[in-house]
Amino acid sequence: MSDYRTDIDFATDMDRADALKDYRDRFYVPQTKDGEACIYLCGNSLGLQPKTVADALTQELEDWKTLGVEGHFHAKNPWLPYHEFLTEQQARLVGAKPAEVVAMNSLTVNLHLMMVSFYRPTPDKYKILIEGGAFPSDRYAVASQLRFHGFDPADGLLELKPRDGEAALRQEDIEDFIAKEGDAIALILIGGVNYYTGQLFDMKRITQAGHDKGCVVGFDLAHATGNVPMRLHDWGVDFACWCSYKYLNAGPGSVAGCFVHEKHGDNPDLPRFGGWWGHDKETRFKMGPDFDAIRGAEGWQLSNPPILSLAAVKASLDIFDEVGIDALHAKSMHLTGYMEFLLDALDSAAFSVMTPRDPEARGAQLSIVVHEGGRQVFDALTEQGVVCDWREPDCIRVAPVPLYNTFTDVHEFVRIFAEQIGNAEQKAEAM
Ligand SMILES: Cc1ncc(COP(=O)(O)O)c(C=O)c1O
Repeated sequence: MSDYRTDIDFATDMDRADALKDYRDRFYVPQTKDGEACIYLCGNSLGLQPKTVADALTQELEDWKTLGVEGHFHAKNPWLPYHEFLTEQQARLVGAKPAEVVAMNSLTVNLHLMMVSFYRPTPDKYKILIEGGAFPSDRYAVASQLRFHGFDPADGLLELKPRDGEAALRQEDIEDFIAKEGDAIALILIGGVNYYTGQLFDMKRITQAGHDKGCVVGFDLAHATGNVPMRLHDWGVDFACWCSYKYLNAGPGSVAGCFVHEKHGDNPDLPRFGGWWGHDKETRFKMGPDFDAIRGAEGWQLSNPPILSLAAVKASLDIFDEVGIDALHAKSMHLTGYMEFLLDALDSAAFSVMTPRDPEARGAQLSIVVHEGGRQVFDALTEQGVVCDWREPDCIRVAPVPLYNTFTDVHEFVRIFAEQIGNAEQKAEAM
């Protein structure tokens, strides 16, 4: 949309016309010490609490209180199959078949479990390719997997770096690299949306490029799930993992999600770490000695899951399912595009946006590099009720989330930000 305007009336008009505006009321928005709603732009780190979560947890606590162990079978939402209640909604969110997804564990744990099955190095094909500047946990995980298999990360870990002077990777550079080095690469593991730059990768093309060279291709979707639409099944992605506490609003440390493409899920002989919750449901309670994996992603489960956490994930997925990721994404493009427009209108050399300008190459997040005194700018934003986050050495990440952020939030944020950016003061006054 090119006809954005900088005046506040434009923001209030956009909010009034927003078909999704009522969803904001479904969430608790933290308040400043003066009792005003914060400008919460941190849903890429921890999403807000849906108001339905408390009731969802209370239901399980009540059933536990009144039924004890019988809750496994007779709770309103029986605990034995509880994770299955999330399956269809999760599948819709990431573009998967139901049998390809499961809610389990947490993100880094799932990355390791996936690598047990999908990082199968040989003496000639053993390298792992990640994006430069990947989330540290991913880097630690792949480096430890390399060492675990007897390889030195200094040789076996490949990191795609952007060109000099550029913050984002170019798609053609990614594909060229895979074409050139792919014969030695066993696994490609990329963040669907990079946590730092906010770059959204073309997962379909990366998967294709990897498969052309016989590599397994997986994605860390921590910053992509609930943020951008995906078609993991159609793209042929081998596996993917995501957390549920960012855009998915399911609460700190809540149960994560995992995708295993059906071409692998239907293969019970694929090496994996076993646990009783991944064992065939018909015979699980016969307590036999031999592991018989459930077909599909469920076959990677280890333990019976934490129901209280799953209840929060379910409450959140209910909202996503009601709105639909396509409608959310359509609003998200407007909100983030509007923020970009307002930032550009400041016409300031004091900062730059490192996130790709192409709306197809990003999600909700913009990463703003403040060239001098960024930490002070961030502290001043915090002081004035803006919740965003600071990433060393000079980056402020902001994510207007379409479920609960407004155009007015975005306008307020840029107005306050502009006040802090010395040479843009006059522009700020004009807003
Ligand atoms: C991209 C990415 N990967 C991995 C993690 C680690 O997640 P967890 O602590 O749930 O394993 C995070 C956490 O923020 C993340 O942003």
